[in-house]
Amino acid sequence: MIAPRLVWPVGVSVEHFLANTWQQRPLRMPAALPGFQSPLSPDELAGLACDEGIESRLVLHRAGNWTLQAGPFAESDLQELPTSDWSLLVQDVEKHLPELARVLDPFRFLPSWRMDDLMVSCAAPGGSVGPHVDAYDVFLIQAQGRRRWQWDSEARNHRTREDSELSLVQGFIPDQDWITEPGDVLYLPPGVAHFGVALPGDDLCMTYSIGFRAPSRSELLQDLAFYLSETSDPRYTDPGMCVEESRDGVIGSAAIRRVRELLGQVLTMDDNSLARWFGSFVTEPKAWLKPLPKEELMTTESLINALENGAWLRRHGMALWARWQSSDRLILFIDGRPVDVSPELSPLVSELCSHLDLNVDASVLRASAKGASLITDLVNNGDLEIDYDK
Ligand code: SIN
Ligand code: CO
Repeated sequence: MIAPRLVWPVGVSVEHFLANTWQQRPLRMPAALPGFQSPLSPDELAGLACDEGIESRLVLHRAGNWTLQAGPFAESDLQELPTSDWSLLVQDVEKHLPELARVLDPFRFLPSWRMDDLMVSCAAPGGSVGPHVDAYDVFLIQAQGRRRWQWDSEARNHRTREDSELSLVQGFIPDQDWITEPGDVLYLPPGVAHFGVALPGDDLCMTYSIGFRAPSRSELLQDLAFYLSETSDPRYTDPGMCVEESRDGVIGSAAIRRVRELLGQVLTMDDNSLARWFGSFVTEPKAWLKPLPKEELMTTESLINALENGAWLRRHGMALWARWQSSDRLILFIDGRPVDVSPELSPLVSELCSHLDLNVDASVLRASAKGASLITDLVNNGDLEIDYDK
């Protein structure tokens, strides 16, 4: 069972969490997802780890050292694992199994474009990825079995060990210790060193990690530079250069001022233009995780007919959505593509960005040619799927 919403610890609410905890400090959330049961079994997870198109890792722990193997694995590799000290991790599970995207629902008080993926791990007793630091926020949901978490409540600049590919922190000194059981959730902001070890019990330990993404300044600048090079790309100019500046090899302060002005023009872009680029950037999927366009294109009429006959629209599990709305502009972003939409379609766009199973009635599309054409394009691009069986 997947719990539909979070039960906050006493005294914490969404508002309180955002103001005092998010990006600032760890939070223990005992029984935050009561009755949570892993929708995936260890065998199903192992099946995903054998698939070529799915990112997976196996971490083995022997005598204080952790070794990493990258998937895909052969079934026999995973059948022959020892009874302890290993951990199998699979990334982007919600994109490969769209029904697993429901695990993210209780966390949708945060923007979907900040969420990166759902990673699921399965570990035998003693299994762990070692003490490490993540560069992003994470909610760690205990889904099955028990895991002992230890962490250092202060985010610090840690040195990583050079003897492993796992970015293990040197000299990990935890000041917090918590044994998590199914339904418990631990929130960690970026930079907090942590160490989770699977405990023995009736079940293998399964942990679901909801990881967030935060682009670095250099990633933003690189992408923005590429975007701008495709639109307008003014060059350095120096009209009225003075004689002193023309001496061999001199970079004068006037040249630096001109460079600063040229670069500064980028950030004087209006909000609509900057949002157009940013929305495209943050919804750009990993190259191998994109919906494919439909082979047989649908007409608007056949789509509306299908909906009238009881079919439902569902977002493709891999499609990434966001929207920008200003006083005069509505832009829908899907998988790095900006689509200018008429502001009258705001309720439809908001529905597209909020739910996996869409509540879009055929009558709404009959009444709005623009809405019908938008939905038809999204279906034909593979971003929306039609579910005939629901
Ligand atoms: C795990 O599930 O074993 C690792 C999660 C993490 O520490 O980020
Ligand atoms: Co981690």
